[in-house]
Amino acid sequence: MTSFAELGLPDPIVRVLSKQGITDAFPIQEAAIPDALSGRDILGRGPTGSGKTFTFGLPMLARLAGAPSRPGSPRGLVLAPTRELAAQIRERLEDPASALGLRVIDVVGGVNINHHIRALAAPVDLLVATPGRAEDLINQGKLDLGRAEITALDEADQMADMGFLPQVRKLLDRTPNDAQRMLFSATLDGDVEKLVQAYMHDPVTHSTAPAEAAVDTMAHYVLEVGDREQRNDVVLRIGAREGRTIMFMRTKHGVDRQVKKLRRAGIHAQGLHGDKGQGARTRAIEGFSDGSTPVLVATDIAARGIDIGGVSLVVHVDPPAEHKAYLHRAGRTARAGTSGTVVTLAMDEQRDEVAQLLRKAGVEATSVTVAPGSEALVRITGAREPQGPPLPPPGHASPAGPGTRTGTGGKRRPARSRRQRRGGGR
Ligand SMILES: Nc1ncnc2c1ncn2[C@@H]1O[C@H](COP(=O)(O)OP(=O)(O)OP(=O)(O)O)[C@@H](O)[C@H]1O
Ligand SMILES: [Mg+2]
Repeated sequence: MTSFAELGLPDPIVRVLSKQGITDAFPIQEAAIPDALSGRDILGRGPTGSGKTFTFGLPMLARLAGAPSRPGSPRGLVLAPTRELAAQIRERLEDPASALGLRVIDVVGGVNINHHIRALAAPVDLLVATPGRAEDLINQGKLDLGRAEITALDEADQMADMGFLPQVRKLLDRTPNDAQRMLFSATLDGDVEKLVQAYMHDPVTHSTAPAEAAVDTMAHYVLEVGDREQRNDVVLRIGAREGRTIMFMRTKHGVDRQVKKLRRAGIHAQGLHGDKGQGARTRAIEGFSDGSTPVLVATDIAARGIDIGGVSLVVHVDPPAEHKAYLHRAGRTARAGTSGTVVTLAMDEQRDEVAQLLRKAGVEATSVTVAPGSEALVRITGAREPQGPPLPPPGHASPAGPGTRTGTGGKRRPARSRRQRRGGGR
């Protein structure tokens, strides 16, 4: 194993990392950091949870150190697809940045833009942004990317898909033509070719995983749950397990409905999707991170990049729409070398669809027929009978008063490391 010091990162960064208990580089870091430090354009693909944030982020900071920045005109730019992910990247890079005397801020939708305008009025070295908000700030004359000499796209394949590409192009067009560019994802596929052709110079590819990045500390199961009624019961029992659980649904409406059902069964669940206000989104992530709401029910908005320690189970309540989403959703567990379990619930009529999806994802899953009370369900997921009194919908006062916990209450969770506490999405 190579230490961060050996990779050529500046001492202040090495010291900050070692205070967080991080000394040896992960494979993608070992492979890509030297090239990133030398100013090369990079295409980086490493499995979920393999440390890509530091891989592009730390060399950016190292290269930005020692030179001045101006207000409203960052010298480094990171683009990310969701607010939660952008905020998390900023948070992870904040300590190493300040150790080098650099200022990093994030600008994301859902926050009063005046807040960002004020933040940009002082010199900013590194800006982490969601594309929409960056564009708004440019249109208002408060942000100028003309000095952004290093740019990184996290979840680059998603940033290159139809939903984001036009905006991303507009932003990159405003950065210097000879800027250093880095594109990272666990699933860096053909979609990024458009960006590579248009914006990259002689990029080097660093890939520490096969095309479809699998994580070998992850156990995959397909749970054949029979009909809808049985499935719904299985979901409640899984929700009552001990430990942190993320449940993925296909639609926002599905998320809201599932949260209500879980809470009615006394399970502290919160929902996360794109139609929720920023306050509710932040509360959902924070409650999940601090253990007060052990079940997070989300759309694919939470599928990419979110890094919350100790998620032991990911449940595809609805199978994902495509195989890449399977890998990203699954990757919310088994991060940084830890282990975790991923289950996909398949009702009878979904079995073929799920089998096909897993084949495409390159995942070998064990299929098991389960019923709500079955031993297999307990063994694989830790499912329990929900027992607490019904909880009101999120945001309403609990009749039993604040702090009431049932089922998977956070109190029993072992103490978490500083890194985990700081975890994810804020
Ligand atoms: N060298 C290291 N040693 C120990 N922990 C590390 C190291 N590098 C990163 N980590 C931790 O590993 C976790 C996962 O890192 P990160 O979020 O960067 O993964 P990722 O590759 O971006 O995953 P995803 O594809 O899901 O976005 C983080 O909590 C991070 O702090
Ligand atoms: Mg990431």
